[in-house]
Amino acid sequence: MPDVTHPRLAFLGTGYLGATYAICFAELGYEVFGFDVDEAKIAKLAAGEVPFHEPGLDDLLRRNLASGRLRFGTSYAEVADFADVHFICVGTPQRPAQMGADLTYVEAVVTNLAPLLRRRALIVGKSTVPVGTAAWVEQLVARHTDPALRIEVAWSPEFLQEGHAVDDVLRPNRIVAGVRSAWANDLLHAAHKGVFDLAVTEDREVPLVVTDFATAELVKVAANAFLATKISFINAMAEVCEVAGGDVTQLARAIGYDPRIGNRFLQAGLGFGGGCLPKDIRAFQARAQELGAGEALRFLHEVDLINLRRRGRVLTLAAELLGRPSGPAGPDLAGTRIAALGASFKPKSDDVRDAPSLAAAAALAAAGAHVRVYDPQGMANARRAQPTLEYVPSLADAVTDVSLVCVLTEWAEFRNADPIALGELVTERQVIDGRNCLDPARWARAGWTYRGMGRPSA
Ligand SMILES: NC(=O)c1ccc[n+]([C@@H]2O[C@H](COP(=O)([O-])OP(=O)(O)OC[C@H]3O[C@@H](n4cnc5c(N)ncnc54)[C@H](O)[C@@H]3O)[C@@H](O)[C@H]2O)c1
Repeated sequence: MPDVTHPRLAFLGTGYLGATYAICFAELGYEVFGFDVDEAKIAKLAAGEVPFHEPGLDDLLRRNLASGRLRFGTSYAEVADFADVHFICVGTPQRPAQMGADLTYVEAVVTNLAPLLRRRALIVGKSTVPVGTAAWVEQLVARHTDPALRIEVAWSPEFLQEGHAVDDVLRPNRIVAGVRSAWANDLLHAAHKGVFDLAVTEDREVPLVVTDFATAELVKVAANAFLATKISFINAMAEVCEVAGGDVTQLARAIGYDPRIGNRFLQAGLGFGGGCLPKDIRAFQARAQELGAGEALRFLHEVDLINLRRRGRVLTLAAELLGRPSGPAGPDLAGTRIAALGASFKPKSDDVRDAPSLAAAAALAAAGAHVRVYDPQGMANARRAQPTLEYVPSLADAVTDVSLVCVLTEWAEFRNADPIALGELVTERQVIDGRNCLDPARWARAGWTYRGMGRPSA
């Protein structure tokens, strides 16, 4: 029987989610095993190197490896033997050429792990999945384990944001637990006791929502659908501002003062991207359709379209500024030189999955421009994703001799850049602020032609 008060934890899949969890839960005092099938990733983690950029995580990794509470491995037998609670943190990407989620990694991890379990344990899904997956995992577990062991399944979706992941894991704004039994509930609670205890010492509370499987699964996709809708709402307002001569940043500020609306996630710009929101809203629509509730989520299709249209807006603005009007095949930017500042889908992350910044840079290059890309952290991933673009090691290198600068990810380095100094490096002072993160008046004073998203030209 597992020690219900001090369970040993495994995180299966040590990507952005699982590695952060493994490291942070060791920091909270748990004995932790991080498991992955990617040997290179595990070798890096075991050597004290976080395989991706996440502020604060490197120090925690090294400290907890040294403490002996944290280990990494690629052996299913070892992880099966080690843990009382197995958290599934594998990827659930969009299926190629389809809207739905690919669950092959979930299936692989469960069917490889389950037959090796030798004592009672809890398997907890953290990956974002279509509703119904937890019940399916339960069937897989029943098929692959000895019933006498009474292995159980629970689902506890994850809400961390890359770039803030350490704090989000140690100090979550809520924990959701989809459970079927008091035993699973108690064990899952024990597996989060460190989080609750930390909150008490900091005079905070972490709300806990205990619910059924379907609700737990839906909470995550509903939250992402809401966030995506909020971003696309303000980007739709940006489109209207562009034709009506309004300024969406002032509009957002003004409506955001209404506490029913709020100002978070209300910045118009290039739109959302990353490994979660785009694929999650698509998988949600696909699953709702399968279940006969497709109409209820039809608006998410529009949310997706608004979002994707923003990427094209950069190309239109670039053509305008560079005096290259669009023909039937779009603008011809041949012979132009453009700096693309930002490749990651958001600042403080090196994640370039479905990054609007990289998509916009690729669209500019496809239109014939010579595009030079710089990102403070995402260069290696960007190079793998878009190998034909030119990558340079600094902001100054990116902007030297270009006739257009495009700010595509709102890294502090770009927000705080000095427009006077940059103006000395470019051949023409023209900037597209794809994230509305620059001060237009300051850039205009330094002689730049400024174009934002949903803002009048300055
Ligand atoms: N990244 C985030 O900010 C975030 C936030 C909340 C939820 N999620 C969800 O968490 C899940 C993981 O996302 P991620 O961003 O960490 O993905 P990721 O691609 O960074 O990591 C997934 C990991 O799973 C590993 N893996 C694949 N098959 C495996 C197997 N059979 N056994 C063990 N490991 C295996 C891969 O090697 C990889 O390291 C997804 O469902 C995602 O939607 C992610």
